Amino acid sequence: MPDRSIEPPRPPAPRPHDVPLGTFATLRVLRRNPIETWTKAHFEWPILVGPTILGTIAVVNDPAAIRRVFVDNAANYRKDALQKRVLGPGLSEGLLEAEGDNWRVQRRTLAPLFTPKMVSSFAGATAAAAEDLVARWLRLREGRIVDIQPEMARVTLDILGRTIFSDGLGRDLDRFAAAINRYFANVGRLDPFDLLDFPEWLPRLTKLGSSAAEKFFASVVETLVARRKRLLAKDKAGAPRDILTLLLEAQDPETGAGLSDTEVKANILTFIGAGHETTANALTWSLFLLTLSEEWRARLALEASAVLSGPVEDYAARLVETKAVIEEAMRLYPPVASMSRQAIGPDDLAGKRIRKGSLVMVSQWVLHRHRLLWDKPDCFDPRRFLPGSREKIDRFAYLPFGAGPRVCIGASFSLQEAAIVLAYIMRSFSFELKKDHVAMPVQRITLRPKGGLPMILRWRGNRVEVPAAVAGPHPSG
Ligand code: HEM
Repeated sequence: MPDRSIEPPRPPAPRPHDVPLGTFATLRVLRRNPIETWTKAHFEWPILVGPTILGTIAVVNDPAAIRRVFVDNAANYRKDALQKRVLGPGLSEGLLEAEGDNWRVQRRTLAPLFTPKMVSSFAGATAAAAEDLVARWLRLREGRIVDIQPEMARVTLDILGRTIFSDGLGRDLDRFAAAINRYFANVGRLDPFDLLDFPEWLPRLTKLGSSAAEKFFASVVETLVARRKRLLAKDKAGAPRDILTLLLEAQDPETGAGLSDTEVKANILTFIGAGHETTANALTWSLFLLTLSEEWRARLALEASAVLSGPVEDYAARLVETKAVIEEAMRLYPPVASMSRQAIGPDDLAGKRIRKGSLVMVSQWVLHRHRLLWDKPDCFDPRRFLPGSREKIDRFAYLPFGAGPRVCIGASFSLQEAAIVLAYIMRSFSFELKKDHVAMPVQRITLRPKGGLPMILRWRGNRVEVPAAVAGPHPSG
């Protein structure tokens, strides 16, 4: 048995402040790294309501109150304007940013694309992309340092490419990836003008340079959509059954109406925007955390060797320990580090009065490390997410994918994807972090390691060494 007396590793995180920062310091830190603004009280209190430079904000960490915001009284809370400005115009007609009836119609029209059956039909394309990643890494010089963060962004983009446009992206994946990275790197930055509610026509310095990338990105999607529409009109049965075809054929189950061309394109951009870097960062942080634990590296290598054979559709269900590591990584380093809503009318949350117009913020960064909700909140311990313990976690204390009607539509897609990719890596490689590199999290549109994640990779063949501590019956058989 593993030695339970050993304290689990405590990975790097900015230290919360004793007292709130002043206005200018807050602005500076919000621009540099928003997770550095939190104070100790945020990690200790169920709710804190107070005036800030963004107006009155309620930071909510009480699971019952969070449930009220996202489920029981969800109609009283709408996505706030700041979030939309940060995401930019490219996604504005898609599901992530839609509101009211338009959102309801899009959500029920798109839901059939992400049923469990549909998601498992994407497992084969996911495994093929993971195999290509392993093959590419095998061609690298043994012991070479690789920055894992762009590598994971590349593989998740490859997976979206294969599942959305299964007949090929049409142009070079790397060029497409570079345009996406440039676009989202700028788009995800909080601009002081946005924070101070300056008019939209004023150019944002932080966004300059993203428009060329956005145009390139939109023109590729435009070409691929037009090509597929021609194919569907000529030979419907011969067209690939991928997300693009599903989007073009999607119908509102209540009215039979399809999506407009603009909505199809906006949702492709949305799926790439919402699903590419998020999943990449969940994988990046999982690999980083695994560098801290020999026990979990060995457990995952063992599980991968046992599971990566047989029907590919079953991989995700059988990769139990792999998923526990990914879930623990998304607890400690949530790819989406905060969500915000604006109160349309007054409400009461955790004993505090919420006024009309107030901003309600749920920060996964804070919630997932909250002193009242987690044992050893800052420590890496995937056992919390193994069957038997997982069920004891309050649904509203752990929100990597949000909650309620606007919960992430791609949650099971990305969990399957992350589990398969991580298992392929763990089966074939051992790795360690580059000496002296500190993986400090920085919040852009997603939470990523500052300066990337340089690691030394070594091919282990298919030989899995099992330390005595982890030998024994294996849950996945
Ligand atoms: C680890 C990976 C992912 C994480 C952590 C994540 C996280 C989230 C979160 C927190 C929300 C809710 C935001 C809010 O309520 O304000 C959300 C919504 C959404 N996500 Fe994801 N996501 C991931 C992967 C994906 C993937 C792979 C896709 C698509 C293929 C996707 C598509 C969406 C969409 C369309 C929405 C908006 C849903 C709606 O408003 O109805 N996400 N995601």
